[in-house]
Amino acid sequence: MDGNGRWAQQRHRPRLVGHRAGARAVKRCVEFCLQRGIEALTLFAFSSENWNRPPEEVGGLMKLFLGALEREVDELHRLGVCLRFIGARDRFEAALQARMQAAEDLTAGNTRLALTIAASYGGRQDIAHAARTLAEDVAAGRLRPEQIDEHRLGARVALADLPAPDLFIRTGGELRISNFLLWQLAYTELWFTDTLWPDIDAAVLERALADYASRERRFGLTSDQVRRPSSGRTS
Ligand code: IPE
Ligand code: MG
Repeated sequence: MDGNGRWAQQRHRPRLVGHRAGARAVKRCVEFCLQRGIEALTLFAFSSENWNRPPEEVGGLMKLFLGALEREVDELHRLGVCLRFIGARDRFEAALQARMQAAEDLTAGNTRLALTIAASYGGRQDIAHAARTLAEDVAAGRLRPEQIDEHRLGARVALADLPAPDLFIRTGGELRISNFLLWQLAYTELWFTDTLWPDIDAAVLERALADYASRERRFGLTSDQVRRPSSGRTS
């Protein structure tokens, strides 16, 4: 979700005004997913590096997160959204951590939309954490080093219980991943738009989906193989 600051700057307003508009855009995206039957949405709200922004901006964002949780969670629950958070949660203040936990507990049984908020999240941190849990298992004798493979590491990163992401959307014109879901995005289709995050709407999202639908996903196979799934395979 990139471009909140520039959106505010264009209007000669403080950056936090852009972040507030960004929060409204989140609601539009969630509504879009519910309408279109999209079952999983993961939003990069705050990176492990964003802690280094000016303290006023970080403080304002924390207030905004807390307020959004206070206001929106009941409605999300009513809509059948299962909410969860990935990232280094222990860096947030206690009140925010408690709200996050309460939101997860309340919505845990919902199945319509898996809405994940990546906050204090970094893709490298995610992979490093997964490696550490494997190392702990080895040290405790529960796992042998030769048993560590893609499957086992992949099971320890965030979102391991969801299908791999189909589509990655970055707003704000930058052409990079910026330490989002590095492991999980291996075969994800990437889509970039100059639209600033607060301006994102159903029309932009429809364009992303249409572009996605026009692509051929080969996962390392040949075009022939994916068009005629039986050809060239023994099973
Ligand atoms: C993204 O918008 C929101 C957060 C990182 C919290 P930015 O704040 O990065 O907006 P720009 O890039 O300055 O426009
Ligand atoms: Mg930015």
